[in-house]
Amino acid sequence: MKTLKIANIPGDGVGKEVVPEAVRVLHTIADLHGGLKFEFTEFPWSCDYYLKYGQMMPEDGLKQLQHFDGIFLGAVGNLNLVPDHVSLWGLLIKIRREFQQVINIRPAKRLKGIASPLMNPNDFDLIVVRENSEGEYSEVGGRIYQGEDQISIQNAVFSRKGTERAMRYAFELASKRKAKVTSATKSNGIVHSMPFWDEVFQDVAKSYPHIETDSQHIDALAAFFVTNPSRFDVIVASNLFGDILTDIGAAIMGSIGVAPAANINVNGKYPSMFEPVHGSAPDIVGKGIANPIGQIWTAKMMLDHFGEQEVGSHLLEVIEQVTESGIITPDVGGSATTSEVTDQIISHLKK
Ligand code: NAI
Ligand code: MG
Repeated sequence: MKTLKIANIPGDGVGKEVVPEAVRVLHTIADLHGGLKFEFTEFPWSCDYYLKYGQMMPEDGLKQLQHFDGIFLGAVGNLNLVPDHVSLWGLLIKIRREFQQVINIRPAKRLKGIASPLMNPNDFDLIVVRENSEGEYSEVGGRIYQGEDQISIQNAVFSRKGTERAMRYAFELASKRKAKVTSATKSNGIVHSMPFWDEVFQDVAKSYPHIETDSQHIDALAAFFVTNPSRFDVIVASNLFGDILTDIGAAIMGSIGVAPAANINVNGKYPSMFEPVHGSAPDIVGKGIANPIGQIWTAKMMLDHFGEQEVGSHLLEVIEQVTESGIITPDVGGSATTSEVTDQIISHLKK
C-alpha cells in the first residue's frame, strides 16, 4: 500500500470550497485503486487565521509542513481582512521560497465542451516550465537620486545551476510527452542573460538527442499562444517570461477556474506544493458556483508527481468527459454548481 501524507491548506475564499471537492475525488480514486491511500492533515492558515493570531501561519509552520509528501493548497487572499502583500508573502511565497520550489509548471489544454476565446484553438495541449527562483524576480538593484535625476536599477540573475535545472526538467517532461521543447528567449534584445540562456539550452539539448528543440523570442512566442498554440508541447521560460505566458495559457483555456499548477522541489529535500492558478475569487465566494476543475486538475498533477501517471491521465480524461457533457459552472457558460461538477466527475470515475 502506498500512503501519501498530504498537508491541506484550503486558505481563503473559494479555496475553502474547492479543496474539499478535490479531496473527495482523491479519496474516490484511492478507493478504486486499492494500492493507494491519502492521509490528509488540514491546516487552517489563512486571512481568518491572521485576524486571530497576527500571522498567516505559526512560527514553526514550515517545520510542521516539512515532513509531508506534498502540500495541497487552495488560494490565499482576502483584501477585506489583510493586505495582499502580507497574506501572500506570509504563507504562499514563504513556502515556495523556503522549500526551494524552484520550478513552476502550468499546463494549458483545450477542454472539450469549454469555449476558448480563440477563433481557431485546435487541440492545443502544452505545458510551461517556469524557472521559479531567480531571473528577473531578483532583489538585486537599487535607486539613487531624487526628482528628474532619479535612477532605478533592477538586475536579473541567471545562474548556470538554476537555468540548467529548469531546462533539464523541461526535457525530462518532454520525454514523457510529445518530445518537443521550445525555449523562450529574447537574445536579440537582452544581450547578456539571454544569449547565456540560449547557450545552456543548446548544451542541455545535447543530452536529449531524441527531443525536438525550438527557440523563439518571447514576443513571437506570446503571439503564437494566441494564433497557433497547438504547435507547442513543453515550453521552458525564465521567471518573468513564464509568468506572462502562463496567464495567456490560462486565458486561452476559457477560464482561470480550470487552470492547474504545481511548484516543484527538485532536490527532494522539501515537499512540492500543488495549487490552482486562480485566487480566492471574492466576487463569487459562498455562492457554490466556483469551478472545482482547477483544483481537481491540480490533484491530477499531484498524482503524476507521485508516479501515478496512469490514474492521473484517467482523471483528466474524466474531467473532459464531464465538461463535454455540459455539466459546467457559470464561469465557463454553464449552470452547474461546484458540487454537481464534482459529483459527475466522481460518478464517471466509478464507471
Ligand atoms: P481571482 O483568481 O481570485 O479571480 C479573478 C476572476 O476569476 C474573478 O472574476 C473570479 O470570480 C474568477 N474565478 C477565480 N477562480 C474561479 C473559480 N474557481 N471558478 C470560477 N471563477 C473563478 O483573482 P483576483 O480577484 O485578482 O484576486 C482575489 C484574491 O485572491 C486576492 O486577494 C489575490 O491576492 C488572491 N490571489 C491568490 C492567488 C493564490 O493563492 N495563488 C492567485 C491570485 C490571486
Ligand atoms: Mg501571474
